[in-house]
Amino acid sequence: MNLPHNATNPEKFVADLCAWIEQEGVSYYDETVTQLDHALQSAYLAAQESVERSQVVAALLHDIGHLIIDEHSRREDFLSHDAFHEKAGCLWANRFFGDPVSEPIRLHVPAKRWLCTTDDAYYERLSDSSKHSFTLQGGMMSSKEAAAFEAEPFSKEAVKLRLWDDKAKVTNKKVPAIIAYQSDLLACLHVV
Ligand SMILES: [Fe+2]
Repeated sequence: MNLPHNATNPEKFVADLCAWIEQEGVSYYDETVTQLDHALQSAYLAAQESVERSQVVAALLHDIGHLIIDEHSRREDFLSHDAFHEKAGCLWANRFFGDPVSEPIRLHVPAKRWLCTTDDAYYERLSDSSKHSFTLQGGMMSSKEAAAFEAEPFSKEAVKLRLWDDKAKVTNKKVPAIIAYQSDLLACLHVV
């Protein structure tokens, strides 16, 4: 099973995508959860807030760039390097789901930098691995960088995504399987 790159059959695309994420997501995201656990917990937290379907899909797919990069390099130490996973994920997601899904994915790393810059308590709450990647991803924002982030059309969605992302690291948390999001994926799919 490979990552689908063709959505001429939307149902097949979504089924293949879910199967690929389940297959590739067995690798560990950090010391507490797998990539799949992390994606499902993020999507669940988004769905609990009754936000737009695109935000649930963005939460589910926000780290797909890690899986895409890992598919090619099989790196086990991906958190030790800034591999620009948000850009790989955004590029792929934009093709099939458009800006409401791909822009929060692209901005979820700067959103962490923005939150650290504007909320002192936020940084202290980050996990150790998240603190480590924050440094690699550029650290605190200048006031110019913060203003540029706030001017992004999807900055608010990206901040919400970031807050779900941070909470989606609970070992053995029971959440719905990926099949629960097939209709959301299908509804957000915009290119065939
Ligand atoms: Fe994440």
